[in-house]
Amino acid sequence: MIPFIDLATQQKRLRAEIDRRLARVLDHGAYIMGPEVAELEAELASWADCREVVSCSSGTDALLLALMALGLKPGEGVIVPSFTFTASAEVMPMLGAIPVFAEVEEDSFNLDPAGLPAAMAAAEQAGVKVVGIMAVGLFGQPADMDGLAGFARQHNLWLVDDAAQSFGSSWAGRKTGSLADISCTSFFPAKPLGCYGDGGACFTDNADYAALMRSVRVHGQGQDKYHNDRIGMTARLDSMQAAVLLAKLGIFVDELRLRQQVADCYAALLEGVVCPALKEQATSSWAQYTLRLPEEVDRAPLCQQLAEADIPTAIYYPVPIHRQTPYAAYPVAAGGLPVTDRLSRQVLSLPMHPYLSEAEQTHIADQLNRAVRKG
Ligand SMILES: Cc1ncc(COP(=O)(O)O)c(C=O)c1O
Repeated sequence: MIPFIDLATQQKRLRAEIDRRLARVLDHGAYIMGPEVAELEAELASWADCREVVSCSSGTDALLLALMALGLKPGEGVIVPSFTFTASAEVMPMLGAIPVFAEVEEDSFNLDPAGLPAAMAAAEQAGVKVVGIMAVGLFGQPADMDGLAGFARQHNLWLVDDAAQSFGSSWAGRKTGSLADISCTSFFPAKPLGCYGDGGACFTDNADYAALMRSVRVHGQGQDKYHNDRIGMTARLDSMQAAVLLAKLGIFVDELRLRQQVADCYAALLEGVVCPALKEQATSSWAQYTLRLPEEVDRAPLCQQLAEADIPTAIYYPVPIHRQTPYAAYPVAAGGLPVTDRLSRQVLSLPMHPYLSEAEQTHIADQLNRAVRKG
């Protein structure tokens, strides 16, 4: 089977450096908040061109820290796409707040600025005051951050970027991490920049938000460990994971270049399907290569056929969040989410990682082109 994501080849490339960095952690023994954590935060801030980075225990916790720093209160609403991973919308109800589901664009799969008024209208009808927007850079491409920021400014809303999949990308020449009031990413192993466990980070230029997130990350810590200024949680990144990330950050630029090469190769080889296209302002970190099948293609037998040819596939995401039971009562943009519904029926993700060979891609494309032609 062709690997869907190949972490083994990457590890081979980096093994000596990872061993060296992990040995250093074992030697100094500062497993929590050791020097690697501070070093990583500084490197990430310099990467994303932002003032403050607060590392943490997962992408989901990064979103929670951001919402808590922004002061999201129970009953307040946050506009969020429904075509995304659950965590983007899960963090609002966790704080007693309300996700308000909005429509995505046909081409980028990301939140459509033109769909925001319909989401505001739905919230108003439900008696929910919207205080912010959660953008998501789905599959690696940032959302239209200019369009979303413009709307946010006009309506006095904050903007968070869920960049769990899009860290490493850019919008209009600015790096992801610096495109919103607070940006969040995940270091889950399969992400473009992943560690060997769970991890995440928040990025901001706002020192007050950063201080709040640092406090919430450790039980709402005040002047020291046993003075608590607010309700918080345990949400630290550990030194071992920071050590792994520092090693991986050393080849991140090269891996992003390789991912772009793989994406270009797919686009040249595939026929009869809609390949993901980048907006002219965007670069992508290609967390996933997700294409759109013609409506008439039956997806399940196609996946089966590809699996028989040693090609793994995945469907991100088969059921939009607003159609899942725990979210069924939350407001949905007036007029519904027809693009979201259509996408969840048509999308298909192919193997994507920096080390996918041209021969493997040719095999994948040949099999897929043949299957789609047969329809
Ligand atoms: C868009 C998006 N948001 C949030 C998350 C949550 O990240 P984590 O799994 O690190 O909690 C993910 C991870 O899969 C994601 O893809």
